[in-house]
Amino acid sequence: MNEGRGPMVLILGGTTEGYALAAALAQRAGLRVVNSLAGRTSNPRLPTGETRIGGFGGVEGLRDYLRGERPLAVIDATHPFAATMGTHAALACSACDIPLLRLQRPVWVPGPGDRWRGVGDWDQAVSALADLGARRVLLALGRQDLAPFTALPDPWFLVRCVTPPDPSPHFAHWELLLERGPFDLAAERALLGERRIDCIVCKNSGGTAGAAKLAAARELGIEVIMRERPTRPPTATAPDLAGALAWLDEVMNGQHGDAEEAE
Ligand SMILES: NC(=O)c1ccc[n+]([C@@H]2O[C@H](COP(=O)([O-])OP(=O)(O)OC[C@H]3O[C@@H](n4cnc5c(N)ncnc54)[C@H](OP(=O)(O)O)[C@@H]3O)[C@@H](O)[C@H]2O)c1
Repeated sequence: MNEGRGPMVLILGGTTEGYALAAALAQRAGLRVVNSLAGRTSNPRLPTGETRIGGFGGVEGLRDYLRGERPLAVIDATHPFAATMGTHAALACSACDIPLLRLQRPVWVPGPGDRWRGVGDWDQAVSALADLGARRVLLALGRQDLAPFTALPDPWFLVRCVTPPDPSPHFAHWELLLERGPFDLAAERALLGERRIDCIVCKNSGGTAGAAKLAAARELGIEVIMRERPTRPPTATAPDLAGALAWLDEVMNGQHGDAEEAE
């Protein structure tokens, strides 16, 4: 385990990938690993290594932090939908000339049998639900994403979140399911069947923890309204832990150049 001395690597986390990266880097001697969490949850699971919690204060705040701490590298392992943090990281790292990697799981792509509709924002998702005449809808979303759907008076919503929404949203008909992934296929199939779900709304988060609902939807012929990912500034990108570790090795060996850029 590293002892907190040596050059610093800053991980912008709050994701499975962030925790895995922190655990992997803890095995490297002579590296100081600092994890940054937004502080959205009151009792977060703490990653391996040092942790700082809370926003930096915009691009300027992050720039000041980077100038003070001078990390060797920053790895942005935030969620694909945490685009504000990703944009701030790109701007601040560029201003401070600090190498930045985006660790980002690949997008989910539809396969044969999938019935997906891509949407760019929640208003489009609300219109798509109305168009489809959906009656019983699973909202597999964050609690901060629910409000636009309360405009629809007819469907019954099954809202699945990790943390209770506060304030409680004003749905006409709904049920709240407080659950954290990963979810398995048998459980997802059973949930969709028992609640007679005819449409799912979710984000294209990618990864395995939330993928089973899509496989179950395919089996049952259920429509999926899929919110596409927000864009971020182009940055060197790795799709997985191995890629991030290889990139960091290059940075540490002074071989870092302009790596592949994200789409
Ligand atoms: N969005 C999702 O669907 C989702 C899902 C799972 C986990 N998460 C995790 O939850 C956190 C917040 O997500 P979000 O969508 O609210 O982010 P966001 O919209 O991109 O960021 C909003 C603000 O939160 C602060 N922030 C975000 N991530 C941070 C981090 N890792 N460390 C320090 N400050 C951070 C920054 O504040 P300042 O401007 O003050 O620096 C940022 O400007 C992220 O760590 C993300 O990985 C998000």
